[in-house]
Amino acid sequence: MKIIEKRLAGIKRIIAVSGGKGGVGKSLTASVLALTLSRLGHRVGLLDLDLSAPSLHVILGIEGLYPKEEKGIIPPEVHGVEFMSIVYFIEDLIGDVNKLLESDFAASVKEIALKIY
Ligand SMILES: Nc1ncnc2c1ncn2[C@@H]1O[C@H](COP(=O)(O)OP(=O)(O)O)[C@@H](O)[C@H]1O
Ligand SMILES: [Mg+2]
Repeated sequence: MKIIEKRLAGIKRIIAVSGGKGGVGKSLTASVLALTLSRLGHRVGLLDLDLSAPSLHVILGIEGLYPKEEKGIIPPEVHGVEFMSIVYFIEDLIGDVNKLLESDFAASVKEIALKIY
């Protein structure tokens, strides 16, 4: 089994928060949803898949928290939620959509998205 499939198999439910345009509240909805589910006692991961304008790290007020590398990547925990975002890896590419779309991260995101939908 490929590694992404194996990891996804361990997740009970995936909730995709998406929308056809910017500024409609996707990021806020995703953040509040993750924090609420965590508070209700669920184990929650929050993955920011916004490649052009990631903002979940800002909404959650994350500063100085980074993923650890140990046989893969261990996401930091923020308010009880395991959090991962493109900003940890290619901050210098944000804003340059063409470069971003050619990155390894974008390839992985595409693979995850295709498996989820
Ligand atoms: N339910 C809401 N009521 C009022 N303002 C909101 C609501 N949801 C989001 N906003 C505000 O609207 C703006 C865009 O929200 P955001 O979640 O970043 O949208 P998106 O991720 O879809 O681009 C932000 O300034 C946010 O604070
Ligand atoms: Mg957003």
